[in-house]
Amino acid sequence: MNPATITLDSAYRVAPVPRRLFGSFVEHMGRCVYGGIHEPGHPAADTDGFRADVLELVRELGVSTVRYPGGNFVSGYNWKDGIGPVTERPARLDRAWMAVESNQVGTDEFMRWVTAAGCEPMLAVNLGTGGVQDACDLLEYTNHPRDTYWSDLRAKNGSADPYGVRLWCLGNEMDGPWQIGHKTAEEYGRLAAETARAMRRIDRSIELVACGSSNSAMPTFGAWESTVLEHCYDLVDHVSLHAYYEQRDDDRASFLASSVDMDHMINTVSATADSVAGRLRSRRRLSLSFDEWNVWYQSSFDGEQNLRYDDPPVLIEDDFSAIDAVVVGGLLVSLLRHADRVQIACQAQLVNVIAPIRTEPGGPAWRQTIFDPFAVTARHARGDVLMTQVESPQHHTSRYGDVATIDAVATIDDEGTAMSVFLVNRSPDEAVASRIVLRGFSAVTASDRLQLWDPDPRASNSAAEPDRVRVRPGDPVAIVDGSITLTLPPTSWTLLRLELGGSRT
Ligand code: AHR
Repeated sequence: MNPATITLDSAYRVAPVPRRLFGSFVEHMGRCVYGGIHEPGHPAADTDGFRADVLELVRELGVSTVRYPGGNFVSGYNWKDGIGPVTERPARLDRAWMAVESNQVGTDEFMRWVTAAGCEPMLAVNLGTGGVQDACDLLEYTNHPRDTYWSDLRAKNGSADPYGVRLWCLGNEMDGPWQIGHKTAEEYGRLAAETARAMRRIDRSIELVACGSSNSAMPTFGAWESTVLEHCYDLVDHVSLHAYYEQRDDDRASFLASSVDMDHMINTVSATADSVAGRLRSRRRLSLSFDEWNVWYQSSFDGEQNLRYDDPPVLIEDDFSAIDAVVVGGLLVSLLRHADRVQIACQAQLVNVIAPIRTEPGGPAWRQTIFDPFAVTARHARGDVLMTQVESPQHHTSRYGDVATIDAVATIDDEGTAMSVFLVNRSPDEAVASRIVLRGFSAVTASDRLQLWDPDPRASNSAAEPDRVRVRPGDPVAIVDGSITLTLPPTSWTLLRLELGGSRT
């Protein structure tokens, strides 16, 4: 294969790295909450029943923001069931995931957990079976200081100070026929607008996310965003995107190129939002909230319509491989590349359910293969995203046609003393020699290479072998006349960490 050249110029920047790009998602689903973050009786459980070992891994993952409590779950959830004395809370049927919701974890417990994790909460309101009043009551409960029914109840339940939750999702995937209370774009657009108007009267500082499409294969993709935003454009701040990727059949080449689809979705939704702004003569520019993304082997999931209430609570606990980890690394490259537009992103989900963290009841917690690319990116993508010019050889994929084999993005810290270059080789079988050309930077004084690659791309981690697939130091790179050369193995994700000689030139 021909070599790739990646050119970076210190003068050309995309935008600051939004910290909210490293969000995650905790849904009342399967063993994400119960048996995941929460397991009273586990040796590591705290007084609320939250596992300290899981919390430690969440901190290590570098999660900035956590979306809660759903997902499909939120569309049938009554948040009022989940407050007050734990022993008095009702058990309810969770109609989204055909489970019994014990309500042992609710808003106050989640707020304590998310604070302990050091993350920002992103709460979703129920616009399926709920509506304007329930959403307003919840916001009054979390954010109003005092002297009202809901704020005083919060104080009685243990939090005298308001939680000050800024980020709010106006429902979840309301375009999906599987969603409880599914709506047409007209119906949802009007409800989102009315809810937004009322919520802003309680707290003007909140940021609101309108539901975009559930995925780009929805027949209404594009049209949904357009109609919804016609109703609520000037009342919301973000529009959501969701996407899950998996390898179908033996087509690893297409799967490795999943970020091509993510790029396309981001560009399409941006263009749709901008065209609505044009029609409405609005000067505001909406940001995108990619608040569900990940690898998910959805074709092996029977579908929520086939679940039964007496099934065990284990749902979609996919074991991720080295290939999946490379895809996750590539999706993060796409998100960073669009830092000027995507302000929020949440990997779905955080624990057990298609998650970077897995737990055993009463036993250990460990990192799945997708943990490290996320953690390393969250730790090292700092400062500004640089415009990254990639000249790459191409290879053919059946789903996306010819694609660039090497994908890359780079960031530079605020002091101009350190750079991170994230590189993905999306070829299933060919190594690619790559050269990084730096323009306008002071000299590279040191470099470090971290890599995720495995001789067995299908290898995964488990309780018995928790460190089978990890990001590890790679071979040293050659630095000649300010250019860096390295060979990227097939199906690999790499971080090159460069120390620069001080101030920008
Ligand atoms: O993350 C799992 C589910 O996927 C969420 O509940 C839903 O929003 C999406 O369809």
